Amino acid sequence: MENIFDKILSVKMEDGDLIILDQTKLPEETTFITLEKVEDVWDAIFHLKVRGAPAIGIAAAYGLYIAVRNIDAPDFDAFWAELKKASDYLASSRPTAVNLFWALKRMERKALAAKDKNVAEIKDILKEEAQLIRDEDEAMCRAIGENALTLFRDGMTVLTHCNAGGLATAQYGTALSPLYLAKEKGWDIKVYADETRPLLQGARLTTWELQKGGVDVTLICDNMAAMVMSKGIIDAIIVGCDRVAANGDAANKIGTYGLAVLAKYHNIPFYVAGPTSTIDMDTKTGMDIPIEERKECEVSCGFGKRTAPEGVKVFNPAFDVTPNELITAIITEKGVLKQPYTESLAKLFE
Ligand code: MRU
Repeated sequence: MENIFDKILSVKMEDGDLIILDQTKLPEETTFITLEKVEDVWDAIFHLKVRGAPAIGIAAAYGLYIAVRNIDAPDFDAFWAELKKASDYLASSRPTAVNLFWALKRMERKALAAKDKNVAEIKDILKEEAQLIRDEDEAMCRAIGENALTLFRDGMTVLTHCNAGGLATAQYGTALSPLYLAKEKGWDIKVYADETRPLLQGARLTTWELQKGGVDVTLICDNMAAMVMSKGIIDAIIVGCDRVAANGDAANKIGTYGLAVLAKYHNIPFYVAGPTSTIDMDTKTGMDIPIEERKECEVSCGFGKRTAPEGVKVFNPAFDVTPNELITAIITEKGVLKQPYTESLAKLFE
């Protein structure tokens, strides 16, 4: 069977080249670009050429390797100083998705643990670690899909927001993973995808990849979700996450919180899917999650033209936080977690 993920590849290292699918060009163009310098990686993350929490982490890990691979350092201390500078730089690209910081810290720890080796060996170790982060993400996403399927059944219709698919991860996605696995099993699952203003990840990316995967998808504007739910045709909502706090509060693309409120009103289960690399036990509640605010033109110049008058005030938070009490279950690669999340999340890291 053709592997559709060959086409939906978000990020990969091939013959030493870091290649990403430029997601800002989708759905019109499928353009793969090579990121040669650490500045290219920072720029790609900042401008959402590569986006989605796990894919950002993977790109940053490879980016850190790229930053240090040509360093001519006489000893570990000199090498470490350069590595730390590059890591801090990459960490400044976006603030909310914790996978970015998780991946960079993991790379830093790996370098520190190898400090007694020579610099050339440490560089090889870092390349392998970045590859491992990518490969583990693929396995985690597959497991998330399998765990999510225990909550799904043949014939159901689900609604999703933003893009938490193959494009946002190494493969399969988180929220979209069960939809691909259901397809593999021959189940008939229908999907409604919110377009996800302002940057339209739902319209541009989710429908694009689900179409490629042969999954039945219907696009709606964000403000149609309540009406669709009121018709009784949505059996479940499943979304990804950028950071889950220790109490289960979950940051995800702006608009997710509103969907969770609507789900409660309409008595529809609301699932958050994410790998353990997105769970941040150092962040106690959602109030402590830094929320990225992006440029006003994303809101006032939608669809490639001015859609609001020049000079109008704009508020453009890229994420919101869904309080844990609105989340029916958090689906990870290690299982399906239920309330109280303070306990079920803590158990994952025992
Ligand atoms: O701004 P983006 O496109 O990076 O936001 C992405 C999301 O909010 C995703 O839902 C989240 O990162 C989970 S991806 C598996």
